[in-house]
Amino acid sequence: MSSPIATIERLADFRGETVTLRGWLHHKSGKGKLHFLVLRDGTGYCQCVVFKKTVGAELFDELGSLGQESSLTVTGLVKEDARAPGGYELQVTSATIVSPSEGFPITPKEHGQDFLLSRRHLWLRSKRQWAIHRVRDAVITSLRRFFDERGFVCFDAPMFTPNACEGTSTLFEVEYFGRSAFLTQSGQLYGEAGAMAFGKIYTLGPTFRAEKSKTRRHLTEFWMLEPEVAFADLDDVCELAEDMLTRVVSDVLERRRVELELLGRDLSKLEAIQKPFPRITYEEASKILVEHPDSDFTPGDDFGAPDETILSNAYDRPLMVTHYPVDVKAFYMKRDSADPTKALCVDVLGTEGVGELIGGSQREDDIDLLLERIDEHGLPREAFEWYLDLRRYGSVPHGGFGLGLERCVGWICGVQHIRECIPFPRTMVRMEP
Ligand code: 4AD
Ligand code: MG
Repeated sequence: MSSPIATIERLADFRGETVTLRGWLHHKSGKGKLHFLVLRDGTGYCQCVVFKKTVGAELFDELGSLGQESSLTVTGLVKEDARAPGGYELQVTSATIVSPSEGFPITPKEHGQDFLLSRRHLWLRSKRQWAIHRVRDAVITSLRRFFDERGFVCFDAPMFTPNACEGTSTLFEVEYFGRSAFLTQSGQLYGEAGAMAFGKIYTLGPTFRAEKSKTRRHLTEFWMLEPEVAFADLDDVCELAEDMLTRVVSDVLERRRVELELLGRDLSKLEAIQKPFPRITYEEASKILVEHPDSDFTPGDDFGAPDETILSNAYDRPLMVTHYPVDVKAFYMKRDSADPTKALCVDVLGTEGVGELIGGSQREDDIDLLLERIDEHGLPREAFEWYLDLRRYGSVPHGGFGLGLERCVGWICGVQHIRECIPFPRTMVRMEP
């Protein structure tokens, strides 16, 4: 009778039973008549103990000569072992080699980033990447659940667009059957149409920016989650962002603790992410920066990465900065009636100096003011006719925000460079593999 097939993350269900695991050889050690094979199956890592006298000399020698990343199935007894990573080990009674691997290029020694990025398709098998992408998965699931539970409709925006959303300097232009199209910078404008149709929606998909920057927080292709809500003001937008981030962090702490520990993450920093988040205005933030010895900030400018780091380091929770000058923000943001030089907007800066995770605002809902903004920003009116219709036919106050998925994952994982937070990163200098 063949034994049941188990996965490493579910070994606890099979304590004391004989099971078969299917996976790849992650690491091998041992001495004399004993091998320790660390098998990975995508769900986790498990130490498999092989005694020569149990499996016989022939199989023992075959296993002993296997290279890293050889694929195999192993059958054995599931034994609790507090010292084993994951808490269980397998006492092997038999094994089958599926396909041997020789000279796997990514060994346990240190490799340079460029070497690893060129082998991204293989690098994804390493422990750190495994942990990061399991967190990414949990973040996406948590976000979808959060919005679903609150009655938001998942509403997908197109990738080919006829117009700019976030300024014209970072547009990727592509040839589109004899005319030009742009890869979307944000699903927001379409999300607004969705909010007028369904009340509350969110988009989640890839977005593109021709960013000529090589920073640790810029990709040319990244995923954005964008809720948009009818009958919402700036306060509602801030509250939604706060609820969403606390929920995501708590879900990941619950479902991906092993992965966070593997990444060496300080969990107490994540456990501190609770409501309410501090809120300050741009003016208040400017004062802090002007008085800070390490800042060369000029009032009126947008904050640079070092400014955001200084600001967020003062708090153990994400910081919400509201009311930026209209000049540094997008055309669609509504102006503050109390001070029309300021936008009804919010940026959420992550803790530990990671910088902007979220950008959002209340939207301009008055068609005449919106037309003024479009002209001021030098945008072509014709391309926005459909968007203006949303103000012509039953305009309502509304707002939303965009969360950069990779920045969120990097922040939760404590990973410095967001290129590790997307399976196949696209940056100014790299498109392969
Ligand atoms: O602040 P941004 O540009 O806002 C928008 O696009 C709005 N239309 C969103 C909305 O209100 N619906 O971008 C939103 C977030 C940023 O806060 C950041 O986390 C992320 O997207 N982001 C990037 N992430 C990686 N690489 C880049 N080049 C990014 N640019 C923005
Ligand atoms: Mg922004």
